[in-house]
Parts: sequence; structure tokens; C-alpha cells
Amino acid sequence: MAFNLLKGKRGIITGALDENSIAWKVAQRCHEEGATFTLTNAPIAMRMGEINKLAAATGAKIIPADATSVEDLTKLYTESMDVLGGKIDFVLHSIGMSVNIRKNIPYTELNYEFFNKGIDVSAMSLHKMLAVAHKLDALNDHASVVALTYIAAQKVYPFYTDMADIKSMLESIARTFGYHYGKQKKVRINTVSQSPTKTTAGGGIKGFTEFYDFADMQSPLGNASADDCANYCVSLFSDLTRMVTMQNLYHDGGYSSTGVSAEQLGAIAKS
Ligand SMILES: NC(=O)c1ccc[n+]([C@@H]2O[C@H](COP(=O)([O-])OP(=O)(O)OC[C@H]3O[C@@H](n4cnc5c(N)ncnc54)[C@H](O)[C@@H]3O)[C@@H](O)[C@H]2O)c1
Repeated sequence: MAFNLLKGKRGIITGALDENSIAWKVAQRCHEEGATFTLTNAPIAMRMGEINKLAAATGAKIIPADATSVEDLTKLYTESMDVLGGKIDFVLHSIGMSVNIRKNIPYTELNYEFFNKGIDVSAMSLHKMLAVAHKLDALNDHASVVALTYIAAQKVYPFYTDMADIKSMLESIARTFGYHYGKQKKVRINTVSQSPTKTTAGGGIKGFTEFYDFADMQSPLGNASADDCANYCVSLFSDLTRMVTMQNLYHDGGYSSTGVSAEQLGAIAKS
């Protein structure tokens, strides 16, 4: 069901790699709600070509940008404002990558070159996206920026290794930039802490399937899907949430507030 919540709004959506990507679902929902937007991803991710299908279905222009490059991001905002016909009302940061996770390196033995890469791609990129927008004055008053995160920023999930620290940094950037941009331009910045979701990034984590089921069992509502996450992002981009900023918002079916569920205890009793 569509409510025209984003009618007339202009956006930039990062991170749609394939149809499982959370950003892919967000783009579909934003389109249904009447928004126009550009799509962007790292040039290397474009090689798969999947994003072309999404662009065709949503009438979006694709503007390749490596989120670690200030030059690419400057081009992204400039071209987006040009194509969309004005300043931007919403931005989705849906970017995450850890070489340490990909290579299965344990937390106590992290490779620091990979760690730095992970920080640059997955956390500092948010600062760069915001700083470039700020410099270009590319965001409208009351624009909304959402970045996706995970609860490993608050509690230990051993398999999440350096991404736990990186997500903490991402959430801190959202808060701190949210203060400055809020004061100056009434721009709001939030992070959405999403349930485990079956995507390329999610699936790359060791033991993901078991953990997905564990979280599902702990959440009174079950794991939140990528489609549900897209709905939540739409609400955050809309004017209905115009006073929400600098928050880390759990979108997890109640997982974060549940210590243990009866089903989890039952499963242990059986084993
Ligand atoms: N899947 C989960 O379980 C889960 C849970 C909570 C939060 N998240 C977060 O959601 C976000 C989206 O991930 P996803 O699960 O949809 O997986 P995904 O793999 O579909 O998306 C990750 C995206 O990051 C992009 N990316 C990587 N390096 C980049 C760079 N240098 N410049 C620009 N883009 C780059 C990839 O191309 C890809 O499109 C990430 O921040 C992830 O940490 C995922």
C-alpha cells in the first residue's frame, strides 16, 4: 500500500547491489511513495549490472561513486541535484564491508590494513557523505539521512569482529554530525539498527544462518525483513518523523529488549 509519503522528495540511495540488498527494497518503496532519487554504488559493484534493473523499474539515474572518495561523492551530489532538479531531501547510507570478516580473521588477530579499509568504507564514508553535502549545501532544511547499523555496536557478537567497532563509529558520526547539521540546517541524521537479514553482506558472516535463526527465536515479532526495514526508512524520510534525529533506532522485532525467550530456553532444555 502506498501513502504518497515522499511525494515531491528527492533522494540519494547507496548500496543496492542485488535484489536482496536492503537498499534495493528501500529504493522500491521510495519509488512507490512518490520520491525521485539517484542510485549509487562503488564502480566495481556495478560490474554485476543488477542495479540497471532497479534503475529501470524506478526511473532512477545511476551515478557510480566510491563512498571513500570525496571527489566521487562531490560528483554524486552535484549530478544528483542536477538530474533531480534541486536540493536533496533524503539520503540512505547502506554501505558495509569488512575484509577481516571476509577473510575469517579472528578479532584478536585483526589485520590493521583491512581494519582501516573497513573503517573508511563502512563508517568514515558517512562522515564524508555528510561533509560533502554540508560543503555544497546540497540538503534541504529538514532533510533526513539514515544509515544502517547493527546491535554489535552495543553488545558483543564475536563473529562480527571489527565491524562491531566500525558500527560504533558509524553511530557516533550520525549523532555528532546530527548535532551540527541539525543546528545549522535542521537536517536530521539517524541510524537504523536492523535484524540479521539475508543479503550479500549479511551472508558473508561466519555462522550467519544459525545466528539468523537464534535472533528470530529471541524476537517476539521475529526478525524484521528487508521489506520491513524499507518501510521504516520511508517513515524516517517522511515529514511524519521530522523531529527525530541523532537516534540509534532498533528495527528488530523486539530482539534488543529481550534477554531470552521461552523458545530459546526450550531448545537448550531439549539438547
Ligand atoms: N544484512 C544484515 O544482516 C544487516 C544487519 C544490520 C545492518 N546491516 C547493514 O545494512 C547495510 C547494507 O547491507 P546489506 O545487508 O543490504 O548488504 P549488501 O551487500 O547488499 O550491501 C552492502 C553494499 O555496500 C556497497 N559498498 C561496499 N563498498 C563500497 C564503497 N567503497 N563505496 C560504495 N558502496 C560500497 C556494496 O557494493 C553493497 O551494495 C550495511 O551497512 C550493513 O552493515 C545489514
